[in-house]
Amino acid sequence: MSTALILLAAGKGTRMESDLPKVLHRIGQAPMLWHAMRAGAVLAPERMVIVAGHEADQVRAAALEHDPDAQLVLQADQLGTAHAVAQARDALGGFDGDAVVLYGDTPFLSETTLEALQSARASHDVVVLGFEAADPGRYGRLVTQGDTLERIVEYKDATTEERAITLCNSGVVIAAASLLFDLIDAVGNDNASGEYYLTDIVAIARARGLSAGVVRCDEAETLGINSRAELARAEAAFQARARAELVENGVSLLAPDSVHLAWDTTIGRDAEIEPNVVFGPRVTVESGARIRAFSHLEGCHVSRGAVIGPYARLRPGAELAEDVRVGNFVEIKNAALQEGAKVNHLSYVGDAEIGARSNLGAGTITCNYDGVFKHRTVIGRDAFIGSNTMLVAPVSVGDGAMTASGSVVVKDVPAGALAVARGRQENKPGFATRLFDKLKARKKTQQEDA
Ligand code: UD1
Ligand code: MG
Repeated sequence: MSTALILLAAGKGTRMESDLPKVLHRIGQAPMLWHAMRAGAVLAPERMVIVAGHEADQVRAAALEHDPDAQLVLQADQLGTAHAVAQARDALGGFDGDAVVLYGDTPFLSETTLEALQSARASHDVVVLGFEAADPGRYGRLVTQGDTLERIVEYKDATTEERAITLCNSGVVIAAASLLFDLIDAVGNDNASGEYYLTDIVAIARARGLSAGVVRCDEAETLGINSRAELARAEAAFQARARAELVENGVSLLAPDSVHLAWDTTIGRDAEIEPNVVFGPRVTVESGARIRAFSHLEGCHVSRGAVIGPYARLRPGAELAEDVRVGNFVEIKNAALQEGAKVNHLSYVGDAEIGARSNLGAGTITCNYDGVFKHRTVIGRDAFIGSNTMLVAPVSVGDGAMTASGSVVVKDVPAGALAVARGRQENKPGFATRLFDKLKARKKTQQEDA
């Protein structure tokens, strides 16, 4: 059976107190919408339809950045969850599989839960994901009889007895797409909110003699995000889970709570991460690499046996081969360092290729930007760049070449050559002693005059 996802993301998120649409607020440095899309993707959906409304253009751009095949539909006025789902009807015209409704602000559904939901479709026409709420608050309540779900009652419309039910509606529903749209046609808005409730489809289905069931999941999975405080709690929950997953997979985190991960951080087993390391998006660290304390990494790849930091910064496009060393106060951007290359102290390497085993001395700077264009620096293998060399790009240094410390290299250096590009040193015997004497004498006269 093929599956389509309908992701609801039209709401304003008033309680976020933000100009940014709620689903674009970030968790693990990715919009929560991406988390929801990724969660739904475990069902290998044939179609993904996202219902946008509030700031729809921004939502559309973000959704397409994550999945260019996603279909965006507009819900101009937010008249309720059933009305939101109805907007996906044309986009799913002719689709004859199951449709799963998810919320863009419910980012943590697990693979097991969604698979259980899909399996339950074998026994029911409509399946709703429910959870036992510690504090049922204003959630919709699931009214069941044995294994059958009879109806869902929204908090605002519930009686005192119904409000005592602790089995709550997560909002996630699965049904055949054609049936779903059929049932929605029968939903009205005669209720406490004057909204078209998606939840009404259960009672409508039951009245037609169709069956409805519940799959239960842990409350933590259906955690919705409505305020900054809930966003902060969701971030903490995400970090805790992501760290635990790494540790289970054989990564050493010396001080787990101090390591900040992104939604897509990938780290191989036996890698070691020291305290206070921040991972931005798109980082891959291979097995056995070591990331030392206070380093900041984003958009980069670190190979086996490499050692980074302490206090290193790897920016997007940093591609580090095996056994590379990047030491303290070194910034690498859009640069490939081949096997065993070393940049150990106080350097900037941007828009560059560094050959195998080459050593860049302390204070090496690639001057890659002329104020308008960026230029490349290419260094061969086994080269030695003297401390405080300025490599004014575009420039190349050949295999096995050297640059003298303090050089400003503006011309290509051939393989095996030594480039010296600095003033020649001249020693003037006794000059310093005479100068000191003169200066001290002047100071003494000034003090006597004062
Ligand atoms: C909904 C459910 C409730 C459930 C709760 C779980 C209904 C009627 N109620 O209530 O049973 O316990 O979620 O969190 O379905 N949305 C749109 N367009 C709209 C309305 C909503 O896209 O016109 C989106 C929102 O952006 C949000 C989701 O649908 O992602 C849920 O809407 P929300 O207003 O939060 O519903 P609740 O009142 O919380
Ligand atoms: Mg809600």
